[in-house]
This record gives sequence, structure tokens and C-alpha cells, in this order.
Amino acid sequence: MRIFSRIAGTGSYLPPRRLTNVDLAVELAATGVHTSDDWIVERTGIRARHFAAPDVCSSDLGTEAARRALLAAGVLAKDIDLIIVATSTPDMVFPSTACILQNKLGANGCAAFDVQAVCSGFIYALTIADAMIKSGAATKALVIGAEVFSRILDFEDRGTCVLFGDGAGAVVLEASVTPGILSSVLHADGKHVGILCVPGQVSGGAILGDPLLKMDGQAVFKLAVGLLDGAARAALIKAGKVAADIDWLIPHQANIRIIQSTARKLKLSMDKVIVTVDQHGNTSAASIPLALDTGVRTGKVKPGQLLMLEGVGGGFTWGAVLLQL
Ligand code: UT7
Repeated sequence: MRIFSRIAGTGSYLPPRRLTNVDLAVELAATGVHTSDDWIVERTGIRARHFAAPDVCSSDLGTEAARRALLAAGVLAKDIDLIIVATSTPDMVFPSTACILQNKLGANGCAAFDVQAVCSGFIYALTIADAMIKSGAATKALVIGAEVFSRILDFEDRGTCVLFGDGAGAVVLEASVTPGILSSVLHADGKHVGILCVPGQVSGGAILGDPLLKMDGQAVFKLAVGLLDGAARAALIKAGKVAADIDWLIPHQANIRIIQSTARKLKLSMDKVIVTVDQHGNTSAASIPLALDTGVRTGKVKPGQLLMLEGVGGGFTWGAVLLQL
């Protein structure tokens, strides 16, 4: 019998500290950095983001999101046999955030590792978990995107520090005789490393280079709008579907203009797009599972519907997953 993987439950978690654009603008103005609600809303669609307290790590946010996903799926932590965490803001250099999270969750013993594909991380992690379930290497997986991007922001660079937020989203993916994940597409092009990166490294007990996020916003914008609909179309073709079959587009939440452009190219009305960038900002690898869980919990996204998840980010990396919920 052919084995597929399907999402059995979703969860998410946002740290309690919420800053509107005005809150952030006031804080930044105190250090001589000037921005405004108007500028941020007009260029990005972002109205608010959440920042984690200084002692809270990606594993803390991810653990809470995972608990909620387990509850929604009716699955116990001890029955999970695979944990994949997508993050670019790990708790430590090593061990992986997935191992730290596994211990907090009480799922000790199962396979656990991190995936680093920046904002496409959740798409990569979901694709790997799907392949492991289809191959028989796992039966019940937790796939998590968790980030504390506030830790790597340069609050003197108004071009980037207003864009990102912290949070986590998770899904329980389990073996099933019915699909599930129908197709996925992953890509990377390392020649674009420099347009979105945190170039620093830990070396000889010190930080070598710059440990804060650098971005050429316009270059990232252009690449993103040029790549996303192509990935979505490739995933549709692989599954024998067309764009009109999609019930919900659940894109990476970086900028409303990128989201609108992708929807337009796929000829999808914005009524079929889950948008959370206004409330969460860009939470990198957490943004897609956060948007998915928001869609599920607000009653928009329903079992049986066809979902197109797609993401793009540093690397450059991009990809899409088409699934039946
Ligand atoms: O997960 C993937 C990650 N990233 C993305 O998807 C981001 C993609 N890029 C973008 O979303 C956009 O490029 C940004 C939102 C980052 C920037 O928008 P833009 O329309 O490309 O603006 P810009 O960088 O060309 O800047 C326009 C002006 C500049 O002023 P001058 O030189 O025209 O006087 C900036 O200094 O806006 C100024 N500016 C700001 N003003 C107020 C830049 N940041 C701010 C700010 N507040 N926060």
C-alpha cells in the first residue's frame, strides 16, 4: 500500500510583547532612527510584530507551538518519531534547536535536527519530513518553524529593523493512506548569498565579522516576485492541478506587495490568500506555519481544502508545497 503524509494538526505561538509601528517608531526615535507607520504600511503592509523577551529562545517559542499542534492532532509527544526545526536563529551554535526543543517537549529518543534555509526553511523542512514518512523512516513528525529574528536585527538600520518579528508555527505530519502532501519543489541559488545575510561567524571565542542582518531590499524584492509563481506552478504541474484548484495560497509573509504580485500572477483573488504579515511582520521560517495555523484557527482553512504553501529567502532559497489538508 502506498504511504502518504498528511497534516494532522497545526499550532503556533507568538511572544506576548507586541509592538505596533508607532510603538517601534517611538523606540527608534529615542536612538535617532526615524521611521513612520505610514512608510512601513505603504511599503510592506506591516502594522505590528511581536518581540521575545531577552531570555526567550527559538526553542521556547517552538515548544509552545509544537504543544498546540500536538493537542490539535490528538497526538502525544512520546509518539513523535521525528522533529525538524527550521530556524536561522538557533539557541546555540550546537546542538540543534530541535534537540533542545525535543527535551523540553519530552519527546526524548526520536530523530531531531535543524534545517537552515532562512525564510524558505519551513518549506524545506516539510519536504524532508514528507520524504522521510513516505520512505518509512518516520511515521509521526513535528515540523516547526521558530525564530527570534529580533536578536539579529540592526536597530540602527531602518531599512531592515522594521520588517521582522519573532514567533513559531508547527504542524504534526503523519503517515496516511490518503494524501496529504501532493507535491513539492525546492530551489536554491548560492550566487545571491550577499543580498540577504548575517555575515558574521563565531571564531576563536569571538564574533568575526558582522553578526547583524544585512539586506539589499530591492534586489530581494525583485528576485522574490520573479521566482515565487514559478515554484507554485511547478508544484501544481507535478500534482496534475491548476491554479484555479487552489483553495488557499499561504505564502511566506515578508511584504504584502510580494504576496499580491504572486497572487496576481497565479490569477488568484486576494480572498484566497492568508495574510498575517500585517500582524506578525516577517518571522522568517516561522511565517508560513504561523499563517497556516492562523487560517485554521480563524475557521478559514478547512479540512479537505487544497493549500499552496510557498516561500523565498536568504541563500537565495525558494520553494512550494501543494497539499490537501
Ligand atoms: O523574507 C525575505 C526577506 N525580505 C523581503 O522580502 C524584503 C524585500 N524588500 C522589500 O520589501 C522592500 O525593498 C523594502 C520594504 C525593504 C524597502 O522598500 P523600497 O520601496 O525598496 O524602499 P527603498 O529601500 O528604496 O527606500 C526608499 C526610501 C529611502 O529614502 P530616500 O533614499 O528615497 O530618501 C530610504 O532611506 O525609504 C527610506 N526608508 C525608510 N523611510 C522610513 C527605508 N526604510 C525606511 C523606514 N522608514 N523604515
